[in-house]
Amino acid sequence: MITKITKDISKVVEQLKAGNIAAVPTETVYGLASSALNDKAVRKIYKAKSRPTFNPLIVHVAKIEDINNFAKHIPETGKLLLEKFSPGPITLVLKKKNIIPDIVTAGKDTVAIRVPDHDMMRELISLCGFPICAPSANISGRISPTSAMEVKKELEGKIEYILDGGKCKYGLESTVVTFKRNVPVILRHGAITQEQIELLCGKVITNTGSEIHSPGMLKDHYAPKTTMLIFDGDFTELKKSNKKFAVLKKHTNQSIEKFAVGLFSTLRKLDEGKFDFILTSFVEDKGIGRAVNERLIKAAKGFLSFENGKIKIVKK
Ligand code: TXA
Ligand code: MG
Repeated sequence: MITKITKDISKVVEQLKAGNIAAVPTETVYGLASSALNDKAVRKIYKAKSRPTFNPLIVHVAKIEDINNFAKHIPETGKLLLEKFSPGPITLVLKKKNIIPDIVTAGKDTVAIRVPDHDMMRELISLCGFPICAPSANISGRISPTSAMEVKKELEGKIEYILDGGKCKYGLESTVVTFKRNVPVILRHGAITQEQIELLCGKVITNTGSEIHSPGMLKDHYAPKTTMLIFDGDFTELKKSNKKFAVLKKHTNQSIEKFAVGLFSTLRKLDEGKFDFILTSFVEDKGIGRAVNERLIKAAKGFLSFENGKIKIVKK
């Protein structure tokens, strides 16, 4: 099968209604979609991505009100977050209604749900008439795609269609939030920042990396094939080595927002460059910088250091 890039929504509606999968655009990253109500179709997503079935999927709906069809209850702070940031890159983890099959939530009694801020995607959901579950459209553990062409490189031959909705506005996945009573718990940093959530809801708990709350938050993720290392040292010694390395760093005069948008696509390009290493360093850990740092540490194999002039890799 040759994977086709199309702007024709009806082709993708037809595929999803027939219980098949297709790649779809959102404002964050491209997703690999199926009907969230069709068990068999959802299984095709896990298979195409080689995704472990313990890692639940995000359900996308067209309107905020639709969340009530699939979640039992929204805490007050959750309602505030929806009012302020939805449609947009925020995902709420809520107690699920029975209509959502277990395969979508990996057997959990909660469902992750969001309203994407992408006209084409919302139109697709409305035309289908069912919610659409979609993890990022990459092979499990690899870099999330932010354009139709990147999806094609990632999933060629595995899907019939990629719906082309242009380049993703944020280039980073949504912020995933669950709740401890009424207090938001950030499970994954994303385009909506911790500071924005704190300002709106007061106290916030950060729980990033906990595999108990969010099974998908594994230590290794977003990884290029080239060994990526965190390095903040002096490049002169490194240049003396016979290693070929690329540098992925925010320029001092570049905004963090701009760096974040291009992060995954730059990483993908560098990965095609036949380097021995991709070297990167953390950005300031605030705002969207937290989401960037979270991706960098997961994508990296470890830290680069020198010992007696020799390259040493320290595990993360
Ligand atoms: O921006 C996004 O969120 C993109 C676009 C396509 O919507 N989707 C995305 O999906 O990033 P995925 O599958 O790559 O990441 C979903 C994350 C995973 O870390 C998963 O473990 C977590 O959300 N998640 C999903 N359902 C959950 C649940 N019921 N409880 C806790 N975490 C959940
Ligand atoms: Mg993903």
